[in-house]
Amino acid sequence: MTETLGKDEVLRIDGADRDLDIGGITELMAEKEGPALMFDNIPGFPAGHRVFTNFMGTAARTAVALGLPADTPKLDIVRAWKDLSRRLEPVPPVEVASGPVLENVLVGDDVDLNIFPTPQWHDGDGGRYIGTACMVITRDPDSGWVNVGTYRACVQGPDRLSLWMLGNRHAKAIAEKHWERGRSCPIAVVVGQDPILSTAAAIAAPSGMSEYDLAGGLRGQGVEVLYAPGSDLPVPAYAEIVIEGELPPVDEESVLEGPFGEWTGYYTHSGQETVVRVDRIMHRNDPIILGAPPMLPTVPAGDQAVPLYSASVTWDHLEASGVQNIKGVWAYARQLMMVVSIEQTGAGDAMHALLAAAGRKRTGGMERYFVVVDEDIDITDVNHVLWAMFTRVDPAESLQVLRAPTTAIDPRLSPAKRAAGDLSMGIVLIDACKPFAWKDHYPAANRVDEATRDELRKRWAGLLAM
Ligand SMILES: Cc1cc2nc3c(=O)[nH]c(=O)nc-3n(C[C@H](O)[C@H](O)[C@H](O)COP(=O)(O)O)c2cc1C
Repeated sequence: MTETLGKDEVLRIDGADRDLDIGGITELMAEKEGPALMFDNIPGFPAGHRVFTNFMGTAARTAVALGLPADTPKLDIVRAWKDLSRRLEPVPPVEVASGPVLENVLVGDDVDLNIFPTPQWHDGDGGRYIGTACMVITRDPDSGWVNVGTYRACVQGPDRLSLWMLGNRHAKAIAEKHWERGRSCPIAVVVGQDPILSTAAAIAAPSGMSEYDLAGGLRGQGVEVLYAPGSDLPVPAYAEIVIEGELPPVDEESVLEGPFGEWTGYYTHSGQETVVRVDRIMHRNDPIILGAPPMLPTVPAGDQAVPLYSASVTWDHLEASGVQNIKGVWAYARQLMMVVSIEQTGAGDAMHALLAAAGRKRTGGMERYFVVVDEDIDITDVNHVLWAMFTRVDPAESLQVLRAPTTAIDPRLSPAKRAAGDLSMGIVLIDACKPFAWKDHYPAANRVDEATRDELRKRWAGLLAM
């Protein structure tokens, strides 16, 4: 990291129980954009077996995790990420002979996932989820391509994990290729890694591109990996915990998975799902479970603090679509509401921006509301966005309702549509710009302007810091 954070950014908590204390405290702290939390001395576990949560819960922590100065303005973090992603040169991982993850290697009867203090995050969860921000690694048997994805992983026994992979996930497609050849799929699940790897794992990289190469390109140096002894899969040498094994075909072995409180804030899925038969556990001394339990999408934590991926990808798409004078792109409630600010040059600019933003939506995404605002709106401030929506929109003429694909975990899908396999849902395009034709005659705002604000902040620094 090129920057460091203040000491108040990480809070150590001793004695919190893994049954709901850790999940509950994490959520309460995330709701007020509190510090990152390092839980230690968890009852029933050795000191040093820790759980780390809320690691990206503020803009400053997100900036630092990405190698940017801690005080980078929020929109600039998204802009930097967009620009970096566009000129990204993939950098392959670097093989090393050994690493801290080999400090403890458990095989045979010693394999026991219960040595880790995996929390029950919410009381409705159907198990303990060790993988909430994990990396699931598989290799395509045809091309050798190594895929990394994040799929929720639940401890189902001392040597059993379940994974839930939605239909189009790469690891599932790779596993099916192994199954067609009549064998199980070698797999490694990494719990606790550099945040850049967590970010890369959640990115929908194209088939054939390894998220390791992506992470290397984003970081500017190859990820140090070693090859796991059983599966020969590359795993980060500095990982906290690596769980290695195989994924048998579902008709050979499956387990009841879920429910699990999902990122939408609801429980939607539970069913017979894939199982990892664990052959080996590797972990550092004093291992840390990296935990990112889903919370209501409006909680200002995780990728809510800075909607890095959704906003930067949409921004990039708008540029590629030729939208003029884009001032920024932001996302609320994860990607449920996308907001674009533009400086209008003509009557069609706002609709162009809305159509282009909606055009980025794919099956599996859940963007619901697309909003375009003028350049005077601070899109990183929800109150500004609401002000524009409440005072620059004529609902009779500024809204368009369309139908688009959604995801299986959309809570608003009716049972009938779900049963019919119809994963479609309405989306709303909202033009919250001043109408271009009379923009210059729109009533003036009575808000103290930015220059005056800066001046007041300097002259009245003590008072305004209160
Ligand atoms: C914290 C987090 C949890 C996720 N959990 C799941 C999950 O349980 N199942 C799933 O199919 N996708 C899940 N995803 C989404 C996938 O990780 C994401 O779509 C990724 O691009 C998939 O990688 P792939 O395209 O290589 O399959 C999750 C993403 C994040 C950020």
